[in-house]
This record gives sequence, structure tokens and C-alpha cells, in this order.
Amino acid sequence: MSSAGPQGLQAVPRELQDREAWLDPFDWYERMREAAPVRYDPERRTWDVFRYEDVKRVLNDDELFSADPQKADDFVEPEAPGEGLILDTMLFEDPPRHGELRGVVDEWFQPRTLADREPHFRELAGELLDDAVGPHGQMDVVADLAYPFPVTVIAELLGIPPSDRDRFKTWSNTIVEAASDEENADAFAERQQQTQMEMAQYFLEMIEDRREDPQDDLLSVIVTAESDAGGRLSREEALGMCILLLVAGNITTTNLIANAVRCFAEADGDLFDELRGDDRALTSAIEEVLRYRSPVQAMGRVATEDVTMRGETIEAGDRVIVWLGSANRDERQFEAADTFRPNRSPTQHLGFGHGTHYCLGAPLARLEAKVGLSALLDRIEHVRLTEAPLQPTRSSFIYGVESLPIRYDERR
Ligand code: HEM
Repeated sequence: MSSAGPQGLQAVPRELQDREAWLDPFDWYERMREAAPVRYDPERRTWDVFRYEDVKRVLNDDELFSADPQKADDFVEPEAPGEGLILDTMLFEDPPRHGELRGVVDEWFQPRTLADREPHFRELAGELLDDAVGPHGQMDVVADLAYPFPVTVIAELLGIPPSDRDRFKTWSNTIVEAASDEENADAFAERQQQTQMEMAQYFLEMIEDRREDPQDDLLSVIVTAESDAGGRLSREEALGMCILLLVAGNITTTNLIANAVRCFAEADGDLFDELRGDDRALTSAIEEVLRYRSPVQAMGRVATEDVTMRGETIEAGDRVIVWLGSANRDERQFEAADTFRPNRSPTQHLGFGHGTHYCLGAPLARLEAKVGLSALLDRIEHVRLTEAPLQPTRSSFIYGVESLPIRYDERR
């Protein structure tokens, strides 16, 4: 079995290790919701929670279920400098420190702040599609839009050169990657460590640069918080924040956009036609993609006290994985949960998590998906998936495909 890694999320359950299984984990989730809704997996030394109600309960209770992997009994202190930076971020902090860290940047992710940037986001998506769409009638949704668009947006918000985006892709992929059977655990851990150190070095230089010459960007906000009189952020926290924002705002949204195109192309009738020019319908369809093919399938917590769920006793210090992707398909919560219904009335899906750690970037992700997809709808019609077999992302918690080739007719 693979190393647990700092987030404790890299360990994939045996049942999902096969790539085919990760492309379609939903039947397995259903069986688990029925037969073992809260189960201990001795191989990963982890509890898995599958039902909507239970997942929500865990995410609602910061005191009983900590987001800090360092509280796990089997937590191993990172050895190399730079490797643990991601642990110093809001994602893995509990209140009250969590709120202090989130407060440094949350203004930037409010819908009203982002609204000012929407016209510019439209331009960016338009430029990418002007290059990709043509009379040849084919494109790869991931390579041509779903990857470059969000990474360019987050690079611009942070204030780092979008031209470095190939590097960001390699880094982000490595950070969310699962260990594979072909690579031994030590080599995998070494690659993870190397990546975090490279990212730290990169951002260290950027931070120094902004200290000299502040700009209107997130990097400058972070630098200011680090150099505040009270020192709101330590150097490690500032670096961790940069890494978190780059990684969290990147692969997740890529998969939302690509999963959306996949859902739309597989839907009955011509959904592309129905959604074109109708922002409300598109917005609701995007919410359904977040439920039906959730880009983030799982999150980790650590029990801080002994707690009983569904008759099982989770002990203090045990790791717990909540399966958002399973909760979002729970028939107890959603009617016809296994059906993609683009006009489903608002649901409380858990695609962005729930509670204290509810996704900071949700308004940005929603806006990017709406802008990116409507730019695509404007340019193409009669969209078909190709016969090429889909390859799932190589991650234990991110759900999507490595590439999504489509054929289409160009709209004129
Ligand atoms: C947290 C999903 C896009 C930044 C989360 C969590 C989920 C999630 C499930 C909760 C983690 C937990 O409970 O432990 C997604 C999905 C996205 C997306 C599905 C795209 C479709 C973004 C974007 C950003 C972002 C664009 C911005 C840069 C964050 C941050 C957190 C977070 C900083 C930690 C929040 C906290 O701990 O308070 N995200 N995310 N995410 N997300 Fe996103």
C-alpha cells in the first residue's frame, strides 16, 4: 500500500485502485452506503464514511473531527524543509487559527469582488477558444480550455506569470497524485517532497519581489500580512498559502469544466442547445455536475475523541475519510440520485464541502465554469465524445479525466 502522505489522502482504498474503478466508483459507493456506511479499512488504517447524513455530521463538527492531519496517531513528521508547508494552511488548521488564516484572503474570493473581473475572464476564455476551435471540428476540452483557463486566472490573481503554467501543472498534478503500483512508496514520497520544495523556492522569490514592489494582487496581500506589525502570517504560512491557492484553484476547476462537458455530451437531447444563452439554466446544470460528478470526491479528518457512528467506535487519533462523491449520490438525500438532471432544483450537494472549511474558492470556481462553458457553447454545437477510452485522473480524491477529446460543428 502507498505511503499515507502528509494529507493522509493519497492512500486509495484497494477497491478503487484499478483505473477503471476510479473512473466509475459510484456502484461501489452505493454498496458501501448499504452494507458498511462507516467502515474501518485496516490496510489504510482509516475509517471511511459514505452516507450524506454522516458526512455532513463529520464536516459540521470541528471539535470532534479535526482537519489537522498532525493529530492522527500515525502522523509522521515531514523530514525535509518545505515538505510540511501545506500543513500550515487553513485547509489543515482548526479554529481559531483557521479563521485568522482564511481572513487574510477571503475578501478576494467574494462574488462582488470577482464580478469586476468577469469581463476580463471572458476575454481569457475567448482567446483560448479562438485558438482551439476551428473548422477541423475537434478539440481536447482539458488541454484546450479546462486546464489553461483556471490556471491562468489563479496565476493572474496571485500575480505570478501565467507563462509558467506548464510548471504549475506538473506541480499541481504531483501534489494531488496517488501513488501508483509501478512506483515504490519511497520514490513517490521523494517526488512529492521535491515538488513542495520547488514550489517553496519559487514562491520565496516571488515574495521577495513583492516586498520590494507591491502590486494589486494576492501575493502582495499575503506579503503584507506577513510583514504586519503583529505578524499575522509566519513565513511558512505565507508560502503555504501561495501553494494552497495555486493547487486548490487549479486541478479542481479543470475537472469541473471537463466533467461538465462530459455530462452535457452524455445527456439526453441536445443539452448544449438548451443551455446556450441561458445563464440560469447553465448555472443550475453546473451545480448538478458538482453533485453528480464531484471534482473532489473525498476529504480527510482526524477524530479527537472516541465517537460512535452507525454502531462503530472511531477512536481518538484515528483518520477518517468522508466520501463527498458518495454522499452526493445518496438516495436518502437526492431523488434519482444516479441520474444527471441539469434542471434539478437547488440541492445541498457537498461538492464544495460543508461547514468551517467550505471551499473558499467556490464563487471563483462557479464563475470560471459559467464563463468558460458559455464561451464554449457560443462557439460549438452538435458535440459528441469520441471513441477514445477515458483515462481517470491519477489522484485518490480528484475525480475527472486526463483528456476529453470531442468532435463538434463550429458555430458561425
Ligand atoms: C476547500 C472543493 C475550487 C480554494 C475546499 C473543500 C472542497 C473544495 C470540497 C473543503 C475541504 C475540507 O473540508 O477539508 C473545490 C472544488 C472546486 C474548488 C470542487 C472547483 C470546482 C477552488 C478554487 C479555489 C479553492 C478555485 C481558489 C483558489 C480552496 C481553499 C480551501 C478549499 C483555500 C480551504 C478552505 C478552508 O479550509 O477554509 N474546496 N474547490 N477551491 N478550496 Fe476549493
